[in-house]
Amino acid sequence: MDNDTFHIQGLRGKHVLEGTIAVGGAKNAALKAIAASLLFSDNVLLKNVPDIKDVRQIAGLLSKIGFEVEHKNKNTYNITPKKRISTILDPAIATKIRSSVVLTGPLLARTGRVVFPHPGGCIIGARPIDFFLDSYKKMGATVKETKSEYIIEAKGGNLMGAKIFLPIPSVTVTETIIMAGTLAKGVTTIRNAALEPEIEHLAKFLNRCGANIRGAGTPTIVIRGGSLLKGANSSYTTMPDRIEAGSFLILGALAGKDVTVTNCDPGHLESVVEMLRQIGIGVEEDKTSLRVSVKDENRRKRLRAVNIKTHEYPGFPTDLQAPITALLTQVDGESMVHETIFEGRLAYSESFVGMGADITVMDPHRMLIRGKTSLHARNLTSPDLRAGLAFILAAIAADGKSIVHNVYNIDRGYESVEKRLQAIGVNIQRVKGSE
Ligand code: EPZ
Repeated sequence: MDNDTFHIQGLRGKHVLEGTIAVGGAKNAALKAIAASLLFSDNVLLKNVPDIKDVRQIAGLLSKIGFEVEHKNKNTYNITPKKRISTILDPAIATKIRSSVVLTGPLLARTGRVVFPHPGGCIIGARPIDFFLDSYKKMGATVKETKSEYIIEAKGGNLMGAKIFLPIPSVTVTETIIMAGTLAKGVTTIRNAALEPEIEHLAKFLNRCGANIRGAGTPTIVIRGGSLLKGANSSYTTMPDRIEAGSFLILGALAGKDVTVTNCDPGHLESVVEMLRQIGIGVEEDKTSLRVSVKDENRRKRLRAVNIKTHEYPGFPTDLQAPITALLTQVDGESMVHETIFEGRLAYSESFVGMGADITVMDPHRMLIRGKTSLHARNLTSPDLRAGLAFILAAIAADGKSIVHNVYNIDRGYESVEKRLQAIGVNIQRVKGSE
């Protein structure tokens, strides 16, 4: 329900959480795999897809343009193109989720046209789409903008390969141009491409189905355009969500006695593990799990302040900036957090101050946290999914019972998170909102 709330009884700084918490499929990988099904002549089977709102929204957009989207079970989709494919993205849905802009690349490449609304900014920043539009123009498309939508048409119905340099290594622009280049005529080169692991994972899947993509995971990607892809003989399994895994690791550091995060890929979490070690938290690695145990009282006392600078992969992820800040309020000393990616991603810190944290925002990109301060429970309203998760973490560390509102924001990116938190000892209840 859209107005559910989470009621969380805080642990007053005690480290008592124990057990294992499993990570789901990555939201930011699954959304692009669903978009990539626009490139196929036959059906695509997508597994380990997280059962979250953003996935259901983008799947809804696909069915509205003429794809048969079968939600086979909670975490499995089977997507098949039908005869007629519309080129218009439903604005009622597309304006609700920024990642709908990823559909424009494959849809334009397949049909030669796409009409979509301004995706709109969101709480963390303006989220412009100039890099998308400039790239389409370089690939031979015309871009018309009205007050409510963009109308993009490929001359002669086909995108042409092009040389594209990204001023910023944008994740979704890199993924979208890879997909557009897959059906363009000729060769597309992306320079200064983003390096996130979800990009390499997507390219490997598309190559298994007939695409010709080289260099994904490096700053230079070369895509040789060809015909529609074939999915019949190879299904797609969503990779583990490294942001969800990192969030749970940070929870282990904040309130864990002995917490193991399973179903994850430690290789994608080097920056988080490194920062936790610098703070003084021991992290044990296995092939698909990470374990945080903060056993004795004295070890806890020696947690040290650190400086965090968010950075494109493999640097510290911007999506874990709010969660790690919750932890930094509980370590002794001054920590500087420098959010280099988005200009509106520090606003949530006011809520931490309201709980008793000592945080000074220096400018839209930097803030100073002076720890350690005890936190008291509050009514919190999550502004976006990552700050929402950070509010849960702070509420768990606080004294008293907090209520987190706008839980639908958290449900956008974390599948039934309260059930998994309860299993390691968190006293969190979902209270259903009124009709
Ligand atoms: C992806 O967003 C993720 N979303 C974000 O996760 C993540 O925070 C971000 O990458 C950075 O890692 C998805 O994958 C769906 P960017 P994206 O383009 O690709 C500027 C979450 O919580 N830019 O890498 O949209 C932009 O303003 C979300 O799961 C332009 O200027 O981020 C930003 O400053 C939040 N023009 C910078 O690039 C453009 O056309 C990097 O943003 C596009 C981007």
